[in-house]
Amino acid sequence: MSVAEVISKRRSCRAYNEDPVSREDIEKVLHAARLAPSACNQQPWRFAVVTDSQQRTEIIEHGFRVGIKMEWALGAPVLIVLGMKRSLIVHRAAVKVSKIDYPWMDIGIAGEHLVLQAEEMGLGTCWIGWVKPRRLRSILGWPKDIYPAAVITLGWPENPDDPPKARPRKDLDDIVTWLPSQ
Ligand SMILES: Cc1cc2nc3c(=O)[nH]c(=O)nc-3n(C[C@H](O)[C@H](O)[C@H](O)COP(=O)(O)O)c2cc1C
Repeated sequence: MSVAEVISKRRSCRAYNEDPVSREDIEKVLHAARLAPSACNQQPWRFAVVTDSQQRTEIIEHGFRVGIKMEWALGAPVLIVLGMKRSLIVHRAAVKVSKIDYPWMDIGIAGEHLVLQAEEMGLGTCWIGWVKPRRLRSILGWPKDIYPAAVITLGWPENPDDPPKARPRKDLDDIVTWLPSQ
């Protein structure tokens, strides 16, 4: 599949079958994340891979916020927690000067690399941002300097031949400014 095909085929997958994802496949998606670009090459991303069923349940029941239906995530055989570790000097200094908090961009890019690699392999994913970072951190045993920012579910889609409908996107006209104007 071309990159364009992978991008256009990807959907948030919220229904998985029970097949486990091999360690090799998990490492492949993590390698794709690792290759992401980052401001000053600081690579602030950190990952926790959770396959144990009890620990996944604990994350979903206690590390997710209420208000959005998230029971479907119990069916995902792998949860990847995406964390952010700021560098003391580069990140703190850069944001003061530029007023742009680069690590958030960096970890978003890494997460989407992971998602697109998974898509190419036929694996389903869904970003989950409705999380409780401090609770996640204590469940994972991560130190204070790693901030859990999101979870990505990973697994084999229950209905690969009947993927979720494409959700609408804004038109280019609504999101692009051309210079000179067209
Ligand atoms: C940063 C981020 C956070 C998200 N958080 C959640 C979430 O907490 N729960 C959920 O079910 N979907 C979540 N999503 C998935 C979005 O709802 C989904 O990407 C969007 O509706 C577009 O649909 P599509 O991914 O199928 O194209 C999140 C996506 C992103 C990128």
